[in-house]
Amino acid sequence: MAELHNVPRHIAIVMDGNGRWASKRFLPRIAGHNRGVETLKRIISACPSRHIDTVTVFAFSSENWNRPVEEVSGLMDILAMALSREVPKLQRDGVRLRFVGSREGLSERVKKGLEDAEALTAGNTLLSLNVCFNYGGRWDIASAAARLAAAGTPITELSLSQALSLSFCSDPDLLIRTGNEMRLSNFLLWQSAYTELYFSELLWPDFDEAALDAALSDYASRERRFGKTSDQLVGKSVTKA
Ligand code: FPP
Repeated sequence: MAELHNVPRHIAIVMDGNGRWASKRFLPRIAGHNRGVETLKRIISACPSRHIDTVTVFAFSSENWNRPVEEVSGLMDILAMALSREVPKLQRDGVRLRFVGSREGLSERVKKGLEDAEALTAGNTLLSLNVCFNYGGRWDIASAAARLAAAGTPITELSLSQALSLSFCSDPDLLIRTGNEMRLSNFLLWQSAYTELYFSELLWPDFDEAALDAALSDYASRERRFGKTSDQLVGKSVTKA
């Protein structure tokens, strides 16, 4: 792993390609999602040594309820299993877990698991892992606007960004999407305004540390201008406009 100077502190990931990974092996789609959990564990472990302090992943979108019923219940089971199996290890490793998204439609068992995991890991500081589950960017913006309107608070860029579900952390510096698809799919619509986008042809279960390093190296070569010109940035640290 080469030492890079321009490192993203917050990466967001659309973990796409689990279904195709499984289909290529004549396995049920859920086998791909299970493999996806293993990849996620590897990537999370690799982040602290690369100076990444926040990872936000898209695990279940508001639209994923429209998938076949057995895939939806399989994803709920994977979440419940990951909570009971992985949370103690994340706790030992200093990872703070937060779940972002609507809790509507989730079973009591899953809701309790999410709350317990958040409470248990609340004091950890090595890495923040935000799992977007039952999340959609439009849902996030619309519910934040509705809350502000109900409270009679004027809707401005500042008040809206403070009302969003990821207001506790900085916007992602780098968004990685695997699976050779080039779209955001309703992920972090507001927060990705100035995020660098990186698309990998690899299916998520095949994504590994070397693929992460390739994304980081690509990021390091980019110039983030936040609406300014290159000349304005020379010799100055970049601050958001
Ligand atoms: C997209 O691949 C992936 C998902 C909808 C689920 C991602 C979930 C995991 C990796 C498991 C981690 C889960 C938790 C709860 C931490 P796809 O199914 O759309 O793949 P395809 O495009 O090949 O069909």
